[in-house]
Amino acid sequence: MIHDATNHGTGFIHHINSCENMRLLVTGGLGFIGSNFIRYMYSIHQDVEIINLDKMDIGANPANLRNYENDERYTFIRGDIADRKLMDKLIRKVDAIINFAAQTHVDRSIVNPISFFYSNTTGVLTILEAMRNNNRDVKLIHISTDEVYGDILEGSFNENDRLKPSSPYSASKAAADMFLLAYHKTYGLNISIVRPTNNFGPYQFPEKLIPKTIIRASMNLSIPVYGRGTNIRDWIYVIDVCRAIELVLERGGSGEIYNVSAGNERTNLDIVKTILTIMDKPKDLIMFVEDRPGHDVRYSLDSSKIRSELGWIPKYSFRDALEMTVKWYIENKWWWKPLVNEKILHPTPWRLRW
Ligand SMILES: NC(=O)c1ccc[n+]([C@@H]2O[C@H](COP(=O)([O-])OP(=O)(O)OC[C@H]3O[C@@H](n4cnc5c(N)ncnc54)[C@H](O)[C@@H]3O)[C@@H](O)[C@H]2O)c1
Repeated sequence: MIHDATNHGTGFIHHINSCENMRLLVTGGLGFIGSNFIRYMYSIHQDVEIINLDKMDIGANPANLRNYENDERYTFIRGDIADRKLMDKLIRKVDAIINFAAQTHVDRSIVNPISFFYSNTTGVLTILEAMRNNNRDVKLIHISTDEVYGDILEGSFNENDRLKPSSPYSASKAAADMFLLAYHKTYGLNISIVRPTNNFGPYQFPEKLIPKTIIRASMNLSIPVYGRGTNIRDWIYVIDVCRAIELVLERGGSGEIYNVSAGNERTNLDIVKTILTIMDKPKDLIMFVEDRPGHDVRYSLDSSKIRSELGWIPKYSFRDALEMTVKWYIENKWWWKPLVNEKILHPTPWRLRW
């Protein structure tokens, strides 16, 4: 149900008071955050209907939502957000779109930048064109990233800071954010941008730092750490991000950007050491490897806007969430075993051909 849908580029809050009885188009819902979001929404809102559109690209895994395959509230469509005809059709049927669809692995973007531009920028532009031409009442929540700001040695970025992406991945995400803001201003489209920091939790593809460390440690393999492991990321449990997205969907302002961070800044070396401690594995598994080119030193976001305007606060402590995550990977080998191979667990994936 949409109320107060009168905003046309004024920045006023565009309320959807509740997600009950809504029909959502979730794009990229077979990936890590998207599948957690769908599971989270069904756990909170019994009547929400979800169409999940996913290209089944790298990162997608149907096993993430296996339990919902026969649920009448759930429809899966294999397709591409850059397919204009498909987007025209789907956008007429829904109240809101939550766009998670993207190519997401920075290391791969260094090897193959063009495919990142295709999904992350052209794909978003296609969604915007479909909205402009078919359904201007639909609300779009776009999941951007802290990486669009680039790195920061001291202090934290707020939503008004300029964008200075470092990798082809973050450049493609920043370009999409620019189009979103331009379409809001020029055509009055109802869009909100969510910029979370590094997520972790269940169902994250094994090539990312935390799952890769847990999986390699569980096999007593060495744990690769880029450079000296001093790069800092601000970590957040995926369910806290799902809660933030739900709030922005219900009460976020049109044309507004919301940083989402939990204040868990850790060096990569700290992360790896903490995981080894939780798993009771020796620290001499750690192996320092050549650093990734263009590796940002530190990311840090100021999330006071979403906290003060929408009342969001993170619910999970870093240590508890990391322990839950380690436990999940240990108990769900069936999930990750079919996904891993030498390439996925490679110590320096940005050196490989993909
Ligand atoms: N994981 C993080 O730590 C993190 C942090 C900040 C922002 N984000 C953003 O959140 C979103 C989701 O990230 P994730 O970690 O779940 O990614 P993921 O790689 O696990 O999942 C991405 C999904 O998008 C799908 N996809 C890719 N291109 C598509 C296209 N053209 N059409 C339809 N589907 C397509 C893939 O098949 C996959 O299922 C991304 O936009 C990412 O930039 C992620």
